[in-house]
Amino acid sequence: MQKKYAWNRDWLYKPSFEAADVQCTACADGFEPVELPHTNRMLPLNCFSEQEYQFVSCYKKIFALPDEAHGRCIFADFEGVMLACRVYCNGQLAGSHEGGYTPFSVDLTPFVRPEKENVLVVEVDSTERPDIPPFGKVVDYLTYGGIYREVSLRVADALRIEKMWLSCQNPCAKEVSLACRCDLVSPAPVSAHLTWELIDAQENPVACAQQEVQLAAGANTVSGSLDAIQGIHLWSVEDPCLYTVRVRLEAGDICELHTQRYGFRSARFETDGFYLNGQKLRLVGLNRHQSWPYVGYAMPERVQRRDAEIIRRELGCNIVRTSHYPQSRHFLDACDELGLLVIEEIPGWQHVGNAAWKEHSFQDVRDMITRDYNRPSIILWGVRINESQDDHDFYTQTNQIAHEMDPLRQTGGIRYIQRSEFLEDVYTYNDFTHNGTNPAFRPQRESTGLDHDVPTLVTESNGHMYPTKAFDHEDRAVEHALRHLRVIDASLGREDLVGGLSWCAFDYNTHGCFGSGDKICYHGVLDMFRNPKYAAYAYSSQKSPDDEAVLEAITTASRGERDGGGTVPFTILTNCDFVRVYKNGRLVGDFYPDAEKFPHLKHPPVEITHLMEADLDFGLPAEETQEFRAFLAEKVRTGTLITPSAEDFQYIGALAAKHQLDLRQLYGMAVRAAGGWGDAENDLVLEGYVGENRVIVRRIGEHKAFERLAVCPDADTLRSDADSYDATRVCVTALDNLGGRMPYIQECVRVTIDGPARLLGPDMFPLSAGTSAFWIATTGKPGTVTIHVQGMRGKAECQITVL
Ligand code: GAL
Repeated sequence: MQKKYAWNRDWLYKPSFEAADVQCTACADGFEPVELPHTNRMLPLNCFSEQEYQFVSCYKKIFALPDEAHGRCIFADFEGVMLACRVYCNGQLAGSHEGGYTPFSVDLTPFVRPEKENVLVVEVDSTERPDIPPFGKVVDYLTYGGIYREVSLRVADALRIEKMWLSCQNPCAKEVSLACRCDLVSPAPVSAHLTWELIDAQENPVACAQQEVQLAAGANTVSGSLDAIQGIHLWSVEDPCLYTVRVRLEAGDICELHTQRYGFRSARFETDGFYLNGQKLRLVGLNRHQSWPYVGYAMPERVQRRDAEIIRRELGCNIVRTSHYPQSRHFLDACDELGLLVIEEIPGWQHVGNAAWKEHSFQDVRDMITRDYNRPSIILWGVRINESQDDHDFYTQTNQIAHEMDPLRQTGGIRYIQRSEFLEDVYTYNDFTHNGTNPAFRPQRESTGLDHDVPTLVTESNGHMYPTKAFDHEDRAVEHALRHLRVIDASLGREDLVGGLSWCAFDYNTHGCFGSGDKICYHGVLDMFRNPKYAAYAYSSQKSPDDEAVLEAITTASRGERDGGGTVPFTILTNCDFVRVYKNGRLVGDFYPDAEKFPHLKHPPVEITHLMEADLDFGLPAEETQEFRAFLAEKVRTGTLITPSAEDFQYIGALAAKHQLDLRQLYGMAVRAAGGWGDAENDLVLEGYVGENRVIVRRIGEHKAFERLAVCPDADTLRSDADSYDATRVCVTALDNLGGRMPYIQECVRVTIDGPARLLGPDMFPLSAGTSAFWIATTGKPGTVTIHVQGMRGKAECQITVL
């Protein structure tokens, strides 16, 4: 039986590499102890030189083999090393790899010393080598460095199963067949007995098949199948049901077991839409980079998974693109479990290199498909270099490799040039045309240049067209949210598209030629700490209120924030049927979603156009009260109440004269209705209703002051015995007495930790837009971790249990 040992603890690291390091001595001088995933350099939040992490470093592992390893095959399985590496074992070169996003195995068998101490040395080159994708020109992201994903030690027999490939042609039929293929290695010709078993999520056996096979010496591929399976529970975005396939190989006294997770589903892009299990599904989603503040790419399982939860559960997206490379298996595991569809693509960014470079890309296609072939969440292989020029032969070949390896999955290739050659199954393109006033996307045929319709998906929009910081002015943050809403509306409504993904989920560090002055691309709907900007609610407000009632007023609700003063109109992003508004304890009225402006959204935003109390007595008769209210609402909507025209004054004056009212008093009441410059603070209560039921209440307004710091971990329990260190994010937010975030609190906080955990970043940092976050990691011991956050005018703490 082959066995995998997590091999992430007890590494030694130094940020340089000398020729003598290849000798693999046990000397630890100049090295520091580290755990994987590891970043070759801790970085500041922003404004740093990319050269800081671009160097060659050395990782060392001193190890003894487990007892059962003697006489067997030993592999080191690396999941991701940025960017290229050579692996030495006991002084000899055992293997090498080029490319930072795909896994590789190094056969250590010939080099290990069974009963002695062994030393493994990895020379890691994290420079932007132009011979390896994505490099050769500039790229709009940073790739960081180090052994940033996990490593395992695998002990196996010479006769072993390497990989299982599962596919189902007819998942929606009454009786389905599962084609099962296995890559095996055998030291000699041998007869073997194989048993295939399908097991459901409750661990019940569902189907079983057996076969005798004759294996040749060397690599073998064995095909079998599980047939006539009835009552299959399909995998879907709403109900991502997963099965397990187990294969047992028996040959002489060797018995080998291998398991693989699988989800039955059909996924087809057609000209008129995307079909999951035969049902049309509109695709709405975001792009994701796999980076975090300070540690770059190096985050363990829980934190990788959390991103998928944010995108699927919190934002309610049904698709994500792993822009622009294969991402962590933990992230993809979570996508499989949460029903988050995935477009996965090969590494690259606009540049295509020479023949040797292209060979790397071909290998990237193979490695990506090999690793992720069995994942139900992946519905499209991206086989072009993101936004590159057409290259007929190159892309004919990447498509061919993908189709040969995986005839059931379609291909796409993300382009930004219009009328680019269509060699894939789905025309996937980035459409940045929306400027706030025009239609969100070009017509399909204008993009494709074809005279017929093809399956078309927009893979990016917004992004650099409207970079928005979490701490930007309210006007910008609101427009950012509205642009995302317009794009979602179009993704849902445009008959010539199957959907759209916007750029992007999270802000990210980048090169100087892309970012803001601090080298961050502020393109996320959440910031780098995964804290939401207003635009995040454009997505979350489209969720069903059964999942979570959402009601976010995207305003500071402070009249001095605006040019000319005033608090209305403002927008509420909500999935409620209507919002009931109270001002200073008095009912203003009920406000409804604007389905006219956003005809395709399930939950259009609600615009609060005025703040006139329902019983506001102007001293006018009923009919004229209605007329006057409508006049005021229109003035508020158009922002012209504070600067009334001569005609407006004439109208108000005539009304006052007619009913013997004081003109100033009447106008004063009107201004108060708009939020009122020169009037006392407003306190607003917003009640969200679904049908008759009040499902959510929010308080906003001007009666606010700092009340407390809230410290909130994503997970309150971590594990000390996980395969690597465990980690979680902890959010710090300055809250006011109404329960809202105080966006203009930018004060410093200091974090101290008692107990078995360490910080993955600095212990002192400012809040930004009233909030920030940090990540803590376990140290290998169980216990209670108490986290203290000391702010400039308050402190808070929270506890995490490490099991
Ligand atoms: C696209 C590119 C992305 C990102 C984005 C910013 O052109 O594919 O990687 O740079 O622009 O909007």
